[in-house]
Amino acid sequence: MAVTRERRRQDGTPASLAIGRSCGAARVDALLAGQAAYYSARAPEYDDDAYPGSVELAFAAILDRFDPAGDVLELACGTGHWTPGLLRHARTVTAVDASAEMLAIARARLRGQAVQFAQADLFAWQPSRRYDVVFFGFWLSHVPPARFGAFWSLVASSIRPGGRVLFLDNTRGRRDENVPRRPAGTVLRRLNDGRAYQVVKVAHQPASLAGRLARLGWHAHVIPLSGHFYWGAARPQPAGQDQLGPCPDAHCLAARLEEDS
Ligand SMILES: C[S@@+](CC[C@H](N)C(=O)[O-])C[C@H]1O[C@@H](n2cnc3c(N)ncnc32)[C@H](O)[C@@H]1O
Ligand SMILES: [Zn+2]
Repeated sequence: MAVTRERRRQDGTPASLAIGRSCGAARVDALLAGQAAYYSARAPEYDDDAYPGSVELAFAAILDRFDPAGDVLELACGTGHWTPGLLRHARTVTAVDASAEMLAIARARLRGQAVQFAQADLFAWQPSRRYDVVFFGFWLSHVPPARFGAFWSLVASSIRPGGRVLFLDNTRGRRDENVPRRPAGTVLRRLNDGRAYQVVKVAHQPASLAGRLARLGWHAHVIPLSGHFYWGAARPQPAGQDQLGPCPDAHCLAARLEEDS
């Protein structure tokens, strides 16, 4: 019997199935199409699976101190779960999502408020203007490693000089998602009717994510929240500043929030 010497990752996944940075573009495109289809199909049941109350409370307090004032861009807004919180501070919110079904729910939730919606694929979209704050909730974990740098370039091209970025996500998928032999960096998600979809889920860890953002030129703080969640704040790194040590900025709001948490 021929012995196939296949390189395997530590979790046992054949390297050829993992969706790392070197993964083929066609494979990533196919995964992203499936992921978008999953969220469209899931839209009517999305809000039944609410976020834990502890995360809601903690993030409301973070939002109040971060104060996302001015014109805010919300990427992958979904059903508009976090949009009312942004609107407590923002003059306007522009909310982008790929799914017409998600956007229909968000539009109904936010009728009459200062929100403009746009349906777009974030891996192809470019902003037509710049914003004071860019926010994304539970989106970064759905960005495949091969698109991580391009996504952060999109964020950079969306903020004004002096603009800021705020994000919220989780450090792991749900327990029932640990399906054996899945390609690493993806999870299997099921709708209530049992249909299954493979979606990207990259479980970033706060310290390594902050380091990665620093290497891309961001001054970033990524801060754990209880219950396998994290939030982060970032802005373009001022020239000549090294963010890989302790925060060098005495006025850094994210550093103060990190100390408080
Ligand atoms: C995990 S949900 C997060 C929704 C919302 N931000 C929240 O925290 O409740 C991910 C969202 O990304 C959207 N999405 C998936 N692929 C997308 C793409 N390529 N471009 C834009 N949005 C996309 C989905 O429609 C869905 O609304
Ligand atoms: Zn700082």
